[in-house]
Amino acid sequence: MRPQPGDNLVFAFGDREGQVIQSDDIKLNAAPIEAYPKYIAENTADSILRDRSRLNMVLVMRLTPESLSATMADKTADGLVAYSAVCTHTGCTVEGWDAENKQMICPCHGSLYDATNGANVLKGPAPKPLAMLPLRIDAGAIMVAGSFSRKVGFQQQRY
Ligand code: FES
Repeated sequence: MRPQPGDNLVFAFGDREGQVIQSDDIKLNAAPIEAYPKYIAENTADSILRDRSRLNMVLVMRLTPESLSATMADKTADGLVAYSAVCTHTGCTVEGWDAENKQMICPCHGSLYDATNGANVLKGPAPKPLAMLPLRIDAGAIMVAGSFSRKVGFQQQRY
């Protein structure tokens, strides 16, 4: 199941794997954090980690709100932004980060995505922007506020 409104985001890896990500955990202009959506129920036994498929992995970052495109306003919260981690070229994880230029870099073939403007493609071969996941903040925690802005993943290229 894809992320649902009301899901929390949890760390995908590292010392805090599985822990809920708080707004304060995401530092301004720092490299994006890899996260998965998780539904947290009042009775924790009913909580559900959404499918750990890479199609559900998102990159969460914080940028200055003034630097963000106005078209993103309804999908961000206090400068927090989340994009699908799956490159739209052939599906590598977009794990590179250029902090100075606020660009996400795919290590496989060098595509560049503009983090401040809906992950638009600045340099291919990626054919399309990354999908964006709307966020909100609730009691300090980062929550999913809507569905992905576009289909996640990639389509086989024809050469
Ligand atoms: S898979 Fe990302 S640039 Fe090719």
